[in-house]
Amino acid sequence: MDKLTIRDIDVKDKRVLVRVDFNVPMNEDTGVITDDSRIRASLPTIQYLVDHKAKVILCSHLGRPKGAPEDKFRLAPVAIRLAELIKKPVATTRDCVGPEAEAAVKAMKSGDILLLENLRFHAEEEKNGPDFSKALASLAEVYVNDAFGTAHRAHASIVGVTKYLQPAVAGFLLEKELVHLGGILTNPVHPFAALLGGAKVSDKVALIENIISKVDYILVGGGMAATFLKSEGYEIGLSLLEADRIATAADLITKTKANKVNLMLPLDVVITNDVSDKGSYAVVDIDKVPKDMKIVDIGPKTVAAFTVVLKKCKTVFWNGPMGVYEIPQFAKGSVAMAQLLAGLKASTVIGGGSTADMVYDMKLADKMTFVSTGGGASMSFLSGEVLPGVEALSNKK
Ligand code: 3PG
Repeated sequence: MDKLTIRDIDVKDKRVLVRVDFNVPMNEDTGVITDDSRIRASLPTIQYLVDHKAKVILCSHLGRPKGAPEDKFRLAPVAIRLAELIKKPVATTRDCVGPEAEAAVKAMKSGDILLLENLRFHAEEEKNGPDFSKALASLAEVYVNDAFGTAHRAHASIVGVTKYLQPAVAGFLLEKELVHLGGILTNPVHPFAALLGGAKVSDKVALIENIISKVDYILVGGGMAATFLKSEGYEIGLSLLEADRIATAADLITKTKANKVNLMLPLDVVITNDVSDKGSYAVVDIDKVPKDMKIVDIGPKTVAAFTVVLKKCKTVFWNGPMGVYEIPQFAKGSVAMAQLLAGLKASTVIGGGSTADMVYDMKLADKMTFVSTGGGASMSFLSGEVLPGVEALSNKK
């Protein structure tokens, strides 16, 4: 990596501002964190800084408050969970800048941890405002970005702050994400398959275009399969269709052929006219979808065909569920793929967002080579975009 990391700098006794992504799912009524994997993912960086006697000032957003404090978006429950995980007290503030934050920082000793209040309680955070960036920067002497999940946002705590606070270096999580996700773009071991699902073709066009020259197979499931199937002339009934993307899907199919990439669409699908856990359903071959039914999952023949391919591969990237995975009877395709990947010897990389959530829910995350903590960020990165949060960091000389 051409960016400095925390290994490259001296942090002893220094005030270190660390941008983390503690945007974790939380029960709004009870404040209970329902998935702490993002907190766990930042522990190596925080522990390293504590061990190297830095004053660790953490900052993050949580949810999407509208530029003003809202109790349900306070970070206090995150501080409690972090303290449990790192087995050290984590102090908090009720604001991320201003006199209270300044006093809390002043009171810190080397090795202490402070979690500032939600950055998005200030509208200037998302606007990348210079005054807010300066105020944040003034709290510290060194800046660390470990928030891969937010690296695609040009916000004050990600980009603006680096104008006033140098060196600006990567934490271990950010580095690890770039190594794993970058690795599948620059140096994948072949055969390489991308297993893609999720609702929309439009969310995946840039990704497919960017990986088309690097993969051997693209396996398509999920809601987006319907638009591809339509472009091939199949009846898709009442399935989710992006009518304005049929031509895009056809174009992607042409491009995959030109690149000698084997693009596989479902051979059979699960259909229903009631997308609920009580809905009756059937499995049909892909040329037998009735006009009044919706496709909600891939079928067993598709699972078998995808399995044959994936077992041959040495690198597999997966993003997007194969069906309506929130409803157990329409989650079978996604569950089968998750279990298969967990048992492969191949390098298995899971894009973030709902695919990562699924893998965590199924307790299979540690069976994968790498599970990204970034949903939008991993899609942007794999689509070939330069992430503002990475670009802003100090280069290695
Ligand atoms: C995420 O969960 O994808 C990141 O934390 C970014 O959050 P945002 O989409 O609200 O900017």
